[in-house]
Amino acid sequence: MNKEKDVIICRCEDVTLEEIRELIKRGYTTVDEIKRITRAGMGPCQGRTCRDLIIREIARLTGKRVEEIPMPTFRPPIKPIKLGVLAESEDD
Ligand code: FES
Repeated sequence: MNKEKDVIICRCEDVTLEEIRELIKRGYTTVDEIKRITRAGMGPCQGRTCRDLIIREIARLTGKRVEEIPMPTFRPPIKPIKLGVLAESEDD
């Protein structure tokens, strides 16, 4: 049994620990790079579940501290909001 292959890091986009580690070993050492290749962090939760796991894995494999890993770019809306809330603002 390949543990890395069975561990899902990004549930929304079905990205495994094995895929993340392979990319880091190939030199992709930012969350944005990994996101562009795998779509990890682009799912419905917008990375709230997987972002910290990816950062921690980059830090671990590169020997850096977590604080040294650049945060990914965020696009609004930062938090999920209901479409009705957006539609209401049109009336105002
Ligand atoms: S778990 Fe990665 S985007 Fe939701």
